[in-house]
Amino acid sequence: MQHDSKANVGAVASEGQARGSFERAFRVIAVTSGKGGVGKTNVVVNLAIQLAREGRRVLIFDADLGLSNCDIMMGVVARKDLRHLIYEGASFDECVVTGPEGVHLLSGGSGVAELAQLGDAERLRLLGAIEGASGRYDTILIDTGAGIGSNVIFFAGAAHEVVIVLSPEPTALADAYATIKVLARHSGVQRVLVCVNRVSSLTMAREAFARLHSLTSHFLDVVVELAGWIPTDVHVEAAVAAQVPVSVLHPMSPSAQRFKLLGDAISRRRPEFASSGGFHMFWRSVLAGQGGTPSSSTTSREVFA
Ligand SMILES: Nc1ncnc2c1ncn2[C@@H]1O[C@H](COP(=O)(O)OP(=O)(O)O)[C@@H](O)[C@H]1O
Ligand SMILES: [Mg+2]
Repeated sequence: MQHDSKANVGAVASEGQARGSFERAFRVIAVTSGKGGVGKTNVVVNLAIQLAREGRRVLIFDADLGLSNCDIMMGVVARKDLRHLIYEGASFDECVVTGPEGVHLLSGGSGVAELAQLGDAERLRLLGAIEGASGRYDTILIDTGAGIGSNVIFFAGAAHEVVIVLSPEPTALADAYATIKVLARHSGVQRVLVCVNRVSSLTMAREAFARLHSLTSHFLDVVVELAGWIPTDVHVEAAVAAQVPVSVLHPMSPSAQRFKLLGDAISRRRPEFASSGGFHMFWRSVLAGQGGTPSSSTTSREVFA
């Protein structure tokens, strides 16, 4: 399907009309970035809160193995994590903590072998622990960590949607492009939603997005869509310091309002391909290293209002 500017207008209108029919569909959204420090964890946590406020049942899986810090930003203490679930026989419920707006968090923990490298027994234990929670969520947000490690490739490949967080510096642009290239080649990713963080205006966000799009459209067979932008906002730093997500601590701040629009845009968006099952099936595909099968195109569009 081609998304030229004409098709784009129609797509947004029909998404609005059909909203009720797919809004509740199970979806897994992997949030990634080219380099660290661009605001990925803030996006994951605040997007989760916005989606929960819309009535979605959200689980964050913090898969930034080694640098997982969703718990800190949400102000919760994850006493157990994926490590306990896989290696120590802990149950899913023991490992999940509840944060603001009822968002659940499963922390990746440190010292977990790459999920791709788990043995059969560990895989089975993981799937067994997750089985009971299968019907509990309709949205999983994954903080994949930055760059092009195998976890990023796996989760992006198994997710229904990939959001890449981009900041306007040239290095972030180059790294975002390199990450999209790897995802396209190794994860079968053909569409990427872009959230530009730390800009001062829509114009600046569009400029950063346009630079990325000029690279992807020349060299890759990937659709990039501008899903939203978040301003540089002192309230974000204050919220990180207070360990309360900015959408909760300062809901009327410029960044919180933009996080709401990002959540709206992602909620409204019609997934490009049907979900291949729920939570349990998603994990099966991660452990099998299978990617999704989105449609292909080579252009860009904006999906926010
Ligand atoms: N929109 C923003 N405005 C101001 N500061 C921000 C913004 N987004 C992120 N930051 C700052 O950048 C730091 C890194 O953000 P984080 O979400 O941890 O990045 P990542 O997960 O990509 O490493 C945060 O601690 C915060 O202080
Ligand atoms: Mg992070």
